[in-house]
Amino acid sequence: MTFQRGKFFVTAKFIQSDVYKDARVKGKLTQAFVEKEVSNWDHNISYYTTNTNIHTAYINKKLVALGETAYSVEIDPFTLNTIGPFILRDDSPYQSQQVHELAHMKKDPITEDYYNLRTIFGFFSYYQLYKIEKGTQERKEIFKECINYPSYMHDLSITKKYIILIAPPLKVNPWDLKNLTQGYINYFRWHPEIPTKIYVINKVSGEKVFVGNCSPLFTFHHINAYENQDTVTVDFIAYPDHSIIKSAGSTNLPLGTLNRLIIDLKDQQTTLIKNYISGIQGIDLPRINEDKIGKPYKFFYAVNFKDSERNTEIIKADIVNKKVITWSKKDHFVNEAIFISRSPIEEDQGILLSIVYDQKLNQSFLLILDAQSLEEIARADLPYPIPFGLHGNFIPNSAF
Ligand SMILES: [Fe+2]
Repeated sequence: MTFQRGKFFVTAKFIQSDVYKDARVKGKLTQAFVEKEVSNWDHNISYYTTNTNIHTAYINKKLVALGETAYSVEIDPFTLNTIGPFILRDDSPYQSQQVHELAHMKKDPITEDYYNLRTIFGFFSYYQLYKIEKGTQERKEIFKECINYPSYMHDLSITKKYIILIAPPLKVNPWDLKNLTQGYINYFRWHPEIPTKIYVINKVSGEKVFVGNCSPLFTFHHINAYENQDTVTVDFIAYPDHSIIKSAGSTNLPLGTLNRLIIDLKDQQTTLIKNYISGIQGIDLPRINEDKIGKPYKFFYAVNFKDSERNTEIIKADIVNKKVITWSKKDHFVNEAIFISRSPIEEDQGILLSIVYDQKLNQSFLLILDAQSLEEIARADLPYPIPFGLHGNFIPNSAF
């Protein structure tokens, strides 16, 4: 979707991945989320899946579609034509092994470097944290740790000095991935007896400045994190367990809540505050003003799925004053609300973009809200209905 001189344009094309081509030939979806019938550590990751349907990033002036494997696809941002695999150069010895990547690589708002975590499965398995410096297409390893039973992770946090990982007790025995016969996620097991593991890693030196625990929980999405002297505060959406993974498509979703984790680096302790704003239960897909990544902040935006049988709603949460305002309409289902800033000073001065599905009309539109009040500014009808999706990004013209 493009805005140009007051006009709105829509273009849509399928990514020409192997998954797409396979589905066209067979007349049905053959690989869904992270799925492949046959896999082996000795084979290339392309045996895994090429379905890059989770997120996008704009790296080294290239628009990239991301899944959760090492396979990413470069897209022409103007024509949406598929250019081909997006390949990071590195000297890593792990090219030919199974790899899980976080779909949410994080961009430092100051340096504009990207950070991500790979889990490399094999005879020995590893977490590998890496950086892609601005204007490059190279992976630089920051931190690596051998791990016997890796956790499923989807996101991370960055602050001025640190990377924060939250590793839930949803774990996999890498030997079980040697010959996949079903979806990759099905091999992960929930271990309520194991705490959630927290890592704080220095972004420059790779030093592990904190490793500790908090109570067992599951999380997909971090909201933001920041430092204050010897403490690091991390806000994220958490669930009591991993049942949300199996609930896709259900109208009875587990309720995600805002959790705040305070990590005391001096005393090496964590304090977890569950349900930090008690009025919002059922939230996920959080977004913030991205200028505030890694810094103290006041607002986040999210989707509330609590009444997902009737409608879903956009919420704006003021985490300092613990106040919430919402936008919703009966029989309307919203998608992730993407914040676009209009001011370098006022954190919430800007707009929110969300694709909304009107169930009664079986039609979708792009909704534009004032981010301060959540009042509707405009809407643009789309030429077709768009079902519930995952993530997207806004890229200003100046970036091209
Ligand atoms: Fe996500």
